[in-house]
Amino acid sequence: MRLVRPLQIGPLHIDPPVLLAPMAAVTDLPFRTLVEEMGVGLTITEFLSAHALTKGAAKTLAKMTPSLGGRRFGVQIFGREEEALADAARMAVASGASLVDINMGCPAKRVVAGACGSALMREPELAQRLVRAVRGAVPAQLPVTVKHRAGWDERHLNAPEFAVALVEAGAAMITVHGRTRTQGFRGQASWEIIRRVREALPAPIPVVGNGDVLTVEDDARMRAETGCDGVMIGRGAIGNPWLFRAIAVRLQGGPDLGPPTIRDRLDVMRRHLELMQKHTSPQRLIHEIRKGCAWYTKGLPGCAQFRERTQHFTEIDSVIVLAEQFFHEQLPQAA
Ligand SMILES: Cc1cc2nc3c(=O)[nH]c(=O)nc-3n(C[C@H](O)[C@H](O)[C@H](O)COP(=O)(O)O)c2cc1C
Repeated sequence: MRLVRPLQIGPLHIDPPVLLAPMAAVTDLPFRTLVEEMGVGLTITEFLSAHALTKGAAKTLAKMTPSLGGRRFGVQIFGREEEALADAARMAVASGASLVDINMGCPAKRVVAGACGSALMREPELAQRLVRAVRGAVPAQLPVTVKHRAGWDERHLNAPEFAVALVEAGAAMITVHGRTRTQGFRGQASWEIIRRVREALPAPIPVVGNGDVLTVEDDARMRAETGCDGVMIGRGAIGNPWLFRAIAVRLQGGPDLGPPTIRDRLDVMRRHLELMQKHTSPQRLIHEIRKGCAWYTKGLPGCAQFRERTQHFTEIDSVIVLAEQFFHEQLPQAA
């Protein structure tokens, strides 16, 4: 028996109602694809500077990658100039995006110094103008959404009022990361503020809860405690794409799938490395392959020495052979 409703964002039907969080240098096309194959409801690109996109910056443009196989995806953009955001949103639509998300949550110094990301929570009127500009730039049925934080600091927890203002300006969904800008990624995310945002918004506007969901149980608890319509997972998915399959099965009333076996880890590592080889620039590939090997071997006996050894190889094939050998030693019958 199905335990929760799918997520409805305007005309977009997201089932299961669980999303991969945008993460810079993590949610590239290979990882998004892997997570999509594991059954996530929707993936979104990492945040892309509207200014860089409109100036034609090749590195940023290369990150606006459509999901494979015609699957739906979102593009996240950031900035504080209406025109640049509107142009960037048009580019996202031209790339095939089903949703444009505006980042109003990034705490990074270089982003906040430009008064973008979470700094916009201190300028609700400008934030509204940005939503209106993007709303006006894309087709009427295409959802424009915003991801923001609990507030700037613990004395300014304005997420509920801020979300209401954004929805008035045309936002079709709000994602709340329950930390303040000053918290960065430290401490605990407040799920209470997510509940307050849910209560403040009209029912048809979905609220997605984000922060500290690491397990199937956390997913269920966040839904129960906040009343959120969807859950977004970031760090809990790194090296653990199985989490989405386990949550999807659980939300359908299925059994607890338990942790991945060593064989599962090997299969997923192989698939991830294959996707990296197809979709990563040659300059970055060796770095990404080492990273992937580290993710899927983490916690297994001898993983630290294995990681260290991969640093000494500059040939991609040699690192892959090393990784295969590592798994072969863990589970001889797996290879
Ligand atoms: C490495 C890294 C990169 C991130 N990049 C982005 C980003 O590009 N856009 C964004 O909205 N949030 C970004 N975030 C924040 C996450 O989307 C998410 O809000 C945060 O990690 C809390 O969720 P979690 O506890 O599930 O990780 C990033 C987080 C991490 C760890």
